[in-house]
Amino acid sequence: MNKTGDITISCQLQESQVNQLSEQFQTLVNRADEARAGSHSPYSGFQVGAALLLESGEIVIGSNQENAAYPSGLCAERTALFWAGANYPHTKILAIAVTVPDRAEHIPFPCGSCLQVISEYQHKQDQTIEILLKHPQSQQVYLAKGVQNLLPFAFEKSHLPKD
Ligand code: THU
Repeated sequence: MNKTGDITISCQLQESQVNQLSEQFQTLVNRADEARAGSHSPYSGFQVGAALLLESGEIVIGSNQENAAYPSGLCAERTALFWAGANYPHTKILAIAVTVPDRAEHIPFPCGSCLQVISEYQHKQDQTIEILLKHPQSQQVYLAKGVQNLLPFAFEKSHLPKD
């Protein structure tokens, strides 16, 4: 095990405008925007919305839920993902859209914990999940066709010892 060298990775994001997306994805992004109204964010004042498109066609929404004990809060993405996982454990998730407040200057990327959870569900359903990130003012969207484009080195079940 004395190998040395570089590991090179390739990640791809497609950049577009909301109105260039399919109608289904435009609807998903709009639902994520609307979901921001349910945010409980008295501490950061940063309302994040998420919307999942399920294979059934149903859209499940989530928003960030903060807590006076700060680490007890949860991001919008995981609020939606865990709700879908608990209520529709056998239904695949096709896509997730995330939106943030107007005052954000750039498109923020989901945090590492949310990406790790998306990775887990990709493995669970053996199918990638498309991730749409929207900038509120410019209507600019980043589309990642699978979480591996945002988290190329996720921790996976196969990394756990077998016994
Ligand atoms: N937040 C999310 O809901 N999703 C993200 O991808 C990043 C951050 C929330 C957590 C916290 O409530 C607020 O945004 C500020 O970090």
